[in-house]
Amino acid sequence: MSQPRRRSRAPKPPVETTIDRWLPTGEGCGSHGDREVHAWGALPGERVMVQVRKRKAGIWHGMVAEVLEASADRVEPLESHYLCCSPWQVVRPDLENGLKTALVREMASRHGVELPSFTVQGAVEVGYRNKLEFGFTGTDEGLSLSFFVRGGSGWRMPLDGCVLANEPINVVARAMVARLNQLGLSPRTTKSLILRSNRAGQVVAGLYVRDRVPTIGAFDDLEPLVGWRVYLSNPKSPASVVDETLEEYGAAAIREQLGSAGFELTDRSFFQVNVPRFETALEAMKRHVLPDRPIVDLYAGVGSIGIGLGRPGTLFVESDPQCVECLTSNCQAAGLESPTILAQPAEAGLPDFPSESTVIVDPPRVGLHAKVVRVLAERRPSRLIYLSCNPDSQLRDLSLWRDAFRVVDFEAFNFFPRTPHVESLAILEPL
Ligand SMILES: C[S@@+](CC[C@H](N)C(=O)[O-])C[C@H]1O[C@@H](n2cnc3c(N)ncnc32)[C@H](O)[C@@H]1O
Repeated sequence: MSQPRRRSRAPKPPVETTIDRWLPTGEGCGSHGDREVHAWGALPGERVMVQVRKRKAGIWHGMVAEVLEASADRVEPLESHYLCCSPWQVVRPDLENGLKTALVREMASRHGVELPSFTVQGAVEVGYRNKLEFGFTGTDEGLSLSFFVRGGSGWRMPLDGCVLANEPINVVARAMVARLNQLGLSPRTTKSLILRSNRAGQVVAGLYVRDRVPTIGAFDDLEPLVGWRVYLSNPKSPASVVDETLEEYGAAAIREQLGSAGFELTDRSFFQVNVPRFETALEAMKRHVLPDRPIVDLYAGVGSIGIGLGRPGTLFVESDPQCVECLTSNCQAAGLESPTILAQPAEAGLPDFPSESTVIVDPPRVGLHAKVVRVLAERRPSRLIYLSCNPDSQLRDLSLWRDAFRVVDFEAFNFFPRTPHVESLAILEPL
């Protein structure tokens, strides 16, 4: 891949360290003199040179610059930008689920939570992501797709697609960047490209631009692409937020099927990125939902859990207006009887629900708001199902419920192979 045109500031010389353990984040931890060093892309047992990017609370944070003595558990990464998207590309794939299991167990003991026995499940593969957001950067050859370099420097690494994404996403992204180069667009004007696909191989896309640009036009011969939009987006904000739609071609949404329920997905709505793995988790949740009792689905997104369970009278709570819109139409399309949808933050107050309900929570990475933790501890539903993309915050919340609930089952799924992330599912009953 070509190099960025603008050279970055000369980095400080890397520091040498021996890595002695994994951190819960998936970084290797070592020391340099009396400094603790956290390094992405470094494995326990390795002697490495670490390029320090940040100093925070006395700890040096960075990424591996050179491996002086490699661990037997190291493999070649699949792509040169692996530290941007999936730093565990250098870890032997057959060890990944075991490592994740050990890290979650360690987090549980740090939070003082006793878990039933479990192991992380799921194939360690690539090409699973059905959504990806690329940025742009300038190179000697023109505009390129990019990801941020880890460490908050704001530097961007040029790339030509990503192995985590399924192939239709990469095919469309490459064709789009080629068109933008034909039109002579620069990274100053182009903000981001968000692509969403389904298992049928269809793609919808949104290109976010900071200024009005010449018409980009349709892609008539680009087979996976069934619809795309050009959005004008505030040049002062780094976020991909829509201020105005400048161009519109083809379908606004594609459909994905989860069991018997169909879901409409746009380039902008939330949906689980690894659908087959999510289906495994959904099956596990189905086994734990109390029969013939009401369901409350908090942090409901577009309804993939609550609609998938298909129980009449389900109460959904979701704060994002885009998701609420999709949730409403997904409930109708699935023929779900008498759903109630509360478009508000969960911490704004939960309506009354029968204590024999099954309550499902699936919050963002930060975990539950303290008010939600408190309200659920007070109401003590008969069954509480907690799905999380961040076991660390989930286990923190479970530790706060020590006097209210006990964990009766715990499972973990490899939703995000070749990255340190893991999805975990806790089933709780009141004490
Ligand atoms: C991890 S997603 C889960 C979505 C859904 N359960 C699914 O499986 O697709 C978290 C969802 O919580 C929503 N959310 C974030 N903060 C919230 C809050 N304070 N109250 C309610 N929903 C919130 C987000 O918009 C997002 O849809």
